[in-house]
Amino acid sequence: MKPKGTTPGGGSGRRPIVVANWKMYLTAAEAVTRVQQLLTESLPDRVDLVMCPSTTALAGIGQRLAGHTIQLGAQDVFWAAPGPHTGEVSAADLRSLGVRYVLVGHSEHRASAHEHNDVVHRKALAALGHGLSPIVCVGESREDRHQHRHHHVITQQLDAAIRNLPPPDERQELLVAYEPIWAIGTGQPATAADAQEMADVIHRSLLEVFGRDVVARRTRVLYGGSVTPANVGEFVEGQSVHGVLVGTAGLPAAGLGSIVRAVASR
Ligand code: 13P
Repeated sequence: MKPKGTTPGGGSGRRPIVVANWKMYLTAAEAVTRVQQLLTESLPDRVDLVMCPSTTALAGIGQRLAGHTIQLGAQDVFWAAPGPHTGEVSAADLRSLGVRYVLVGHSEHRASAHEHNDVVHRKALAALGHGLSPIVCVGESREDRHQHRHHHVITQQLDAAIRNLPPPDERQELLVAYEPIWAIGTGQPATAADAQEMADVIHRSLLEVFGRDVVARRTRVLYGGSVTPANVGEFVEGQSVHGVLVGTAGLPAAGLGSIVRAVASR
């Protein structure tokens, strides 16, 4: 049930967060080198930073990040318990490497793996069941937006992913990343106003499922899609968007450092 009189967003008090998704760009060795470069950047304390390298780089990067506040995230997880699932990686295995966050339902993975909303739901459930914090990605196509279906599409994707999920416990959180497909890798980000409007749509769904207290304490909403050091400040300026999910511009250590510092300066 939706609490009456609750303002969407309600972001005050949440720490800003930057999540770097390195996709399939780097070998494990290259990714470890980038993380070593990142550790030489000045990274302000007041922003949470999560690195999501390829699966092959998780162990090596996990070792480099030991003792640092930067958190480790994976780009995907399989929903089943350890067993006969060739090519998949379990939540328990990720957890054993020190992974704390995991992307689920990224539009690139939805497309390449023909992944539907019910699978995204199972993955989020598996993540929460193993002490991981899921980052549920949702996003509409350009066609959806032209047809003015974006609110409906995002609500549908999110409701299917989070309905009946247990609330994150005190060591976890649930992040939702709004990543319009047309803004990913195109150099054409959404406007800050669009991102905030969609974050409010997301916030309303979160409130219906988890209620005000859990939403305020254990959820954050991110924007992703052509985020750069130059534009990131606009996205985190308001109350509704608490952080960003960064692809290309976060691949060089210096670029990622600039993004974190730009977020901190807001
Ligand atoms: P870009 O920042 O390269 O647009 O990628 C966004 C993204 O897909 C992050 O998950």
